[in-house]
Amino acid sequence: MRPLTPPAVAAYLDGLSRPPHPVLPRIRAEGLAAGVPIVDALTGALLHGLTRAVGATKVLEIGTAIGYSTVWMATALPPAALLVSLERDQARAAAARGYLAEAGLDDRVNIMIGEADRYLHKLAGPFDLIFQDGDKTQYAPMLAKLAPLLRPGGLLVTDNILWDGEVVPGFTDTPHKNAADTAAIAAYNAALAADPHFTTIWLPVGDGVAVAIRTSHE
Ligand SMILES: C[S@@+](CC[C@H](N)C(=O)[O-])C[C@H]1O[C@@H](n2cnc3c(N)ncnc32)[C@H](O)[C@@H]1O
Repeated sequence: MRPLTPPAVAAYLDGLSRPPHPVLPRIRAEGLAAGVPIVDALTGALLHGLTRAVGATKVLEIGTAIGYSTVWMATALPPAALLVSLERDQARAAAARGYLAEAGLDDRVNIMIGEADRYLHKLAGPFDLIFQDGDKTQYAPMLAKLAPLLRPGGLLVTDNILWDGEVVPGFTDTPHKNAADTAAIAAYNAALAADPHFTTIWLPVGDGVAVAIRTSHE
């Protein structure tokens, strides 16, 4: 697999980054050892910085896994803030709750177990930031449901928009990703790029991150 960022560059940037909580490197190491797909540290730092930059007090995450990205964002929130994180895998959600309690962040994070799509209409917005990192085939269908949950100026941050580069025509001759997921991400990227509710910044950080600013409220 051809890396999106040269490994020496990624290692250099990692070396400059200071995790906001000491539990983060351990969550990442344990997650990788168990084969849990989680963001890399640079994407975590981006999530932390964006959460802080928009002064978020209300955040929604789709796809908690074991709480690695959750901790990156929760450490940027004030104590009275709320981060709602949706995860359908009970064991992963339980692990995430454990790490958040250990980090002293469980007062501001509510992990809800179940299919994200079934919670969306029950959630009271507006959110300052939504992190989409769930089922890739749900990215495009959920887009129209997430836009109304964001405040004007709020951010929809989406992970895996490059999908190891497999959405990029000609990047690899030997694709290894599920073709349906690759097609779903390519369709989502096109839909987000064309969506009049958002102005989007496309970043080659980690596995590719889209930072979409909610520009209009219709
Ligand atoms: C890529 S992982 C999330 C990684 C996490 N955001 C991190 O970086 O630390 C995706 C997670 O989303 C969960 N998931 C996928 N589709 C979902 C859905 N429709 N509803 C709830 N959870 C979902 C999966 O069980 C998986 O744990």
